[in-house]
Amino acid sequence: MINKQFPPHFFWGGATAANQCEGAWNADGKGVSISDVMTNGTHLEPRRITPVIDEDSYYYPSHEAVDFYHHYKEDIALCAEMGFNIFRMSINWTRIFPNGDETEPNEKGLEFYDKVFAELKKYKIEPLVTIYHNENPFALTHKCNGWASRECIEYYLRFCEVLFHRYKDVVKYWIPFNEINCLTTKLGNWNHAGILNDGTEYFTDQTDNPDLRFAALHHQFVASARAVKMGKAINPQFHFGTMICHITVYPLTPHPDDVILTQQEDMMRNCFSADVQVKGIYPYYIKSYFEKNNIHFEITEQDLKDIAEGCVDFYSFSYYMSNCISSDANSAKVSGNVMGGAKNPYLKATDWNWQIDPKGLRYTLNHVYDRYGVPIMITENGLGAKDVLEADGSVHDDYRIQYIKEHIEQMKEAIGDGVDLIGYTPWASIDLVSVSTGEMEKRYGFIYVDKDNQGNGTLKRYKKDSFYWYQKVIQSNGEIL
Ligand code: BG6
Repeated sequence: MINKQFPPHFFWGGATAANQCEGAWNADGKGVSISDVMTNGTHLEPRRITPVIDEDSYYYPSHEAVDFYHHYKEDIALCAEMGFNIFRMSINWTRIFPNGDETEPNEKGLEFYDKVFAELKKYKIEPLVTIYHNENPFALTHKCNGWASRECIEYYLRFCEVLFHRYKDVVKYWIPFNEINCLTTKLGNWNHAGILNDGTEYFTDQTDNPDLRFAALHHQFVASARAVKMGKAINPQFHFGTMICHITVYPLTPHPDDVILTQQEDMMRNCFSADVQVKGIYPYYIKSYFEKNNIHFEITEQDLKDIAEGCVDFYSFSYYMSNCISSDANSAKVSGNVMGGAKNPYLKATDWNWQIDPKGLRYTLNHVYDRYGVPIMITENGLGAKDVLEADGSVHDDYRIQYIKEHIEQMKEAIGDGVDLIGYTPWASIDLVSVSTGEMEKRYGFIYVDKDNQGNGTLKRYKKDSFYWYQKVIQSNGEIL
């Protein structure tokens, strides 16, 4: 009989990122991160990157976010109440090294994470730590245009070394870079590498220099590999994972041109970065891509050796949608978190025009397991939607329940197919600031936070219907959906 049940020690939890939930942007010695200089925006109005913070003219949503910094006890207690046994979070680099290039860490910043980890431990919740999640020190943009410079590797490793020593007994699961493959697109320059080229004013319309961008990606591959090697020397029990923003792609038609384009898009956007991090090689197809696109940057022998020696142990990815690829430039379009695509006539989309495709998750799980053969975690998946807080404090988010339920059903199918799926941390544990638009009202959480797009609200937490539903899912290890 085919077993479609979740394994007994399956990780059930939720995900967050420091810059989107912590707030306290300049508390206790914290420096300015790249997220702290991004204004709010909307679906139609792009977020602005302001090299000088101007709070009189603009609203910066990361500055307070949902103030996890002062609410972490309450928030973790709520996650424990849902039954989480894993909690994905990031460590804000600028709390530890405010400018990125200091030699001594900021003790106050480390103390905050000591407390967070102690709180998680109290409830037997495993931390899953993203080391870099859009929190590059802004000072490194001034100093060396972020990851465009090789210098960043050393600064990052200094940060890792501090984390690995300090938390060697409390953290086992590490993700060196969130959605590292975003650097294959020009949108990745800023959030994923702190690169600010002349002419960039808006997050969604950045000046791109592919040589710098791919150099930055290469520097992150090297940094990731060296972090893995360093981490395993400090604690051989550490597990490291890649984290890919997986935009699953289908050919819009069976026309061979569409099929070839789709394959190329999949290899470039989804596979390239994981091939490097999981297999420890620069894949064959990337060489011709660089040649065709006239992309040049330095790769040393030592870099390749490090990459080969510092492979990650598990594959993790975010999955929100799928897109179609068409060779017809006039095909109808949809948007997405990193790249849009052609509209799939069989799928519905969210209010932000992200196509909803639960079966695509089963397809993706099989696709990546076949390619890499390592354990897999889905470290982001969820529905950004407008929620209504009722007068009695309830939030009826049946649409979110439906979305997650259908995705969990497909996870079970994939387990039945034989995929080694070990964990699920949907986005997000709690409402937080949206990356693409800077809105609060594009909500993902199981926990509602009373705060609006302009920063008004009490910050009070409320349990949504999905909170109680997910609690039952976890209690039954995915049997009651
Ligand atoms: C992922 C990011 O790309 O998508 C998260 O890792 C982000 O940080 C999530 O919040 C959802 O995107 P958005 O733009 O709706 O916040």
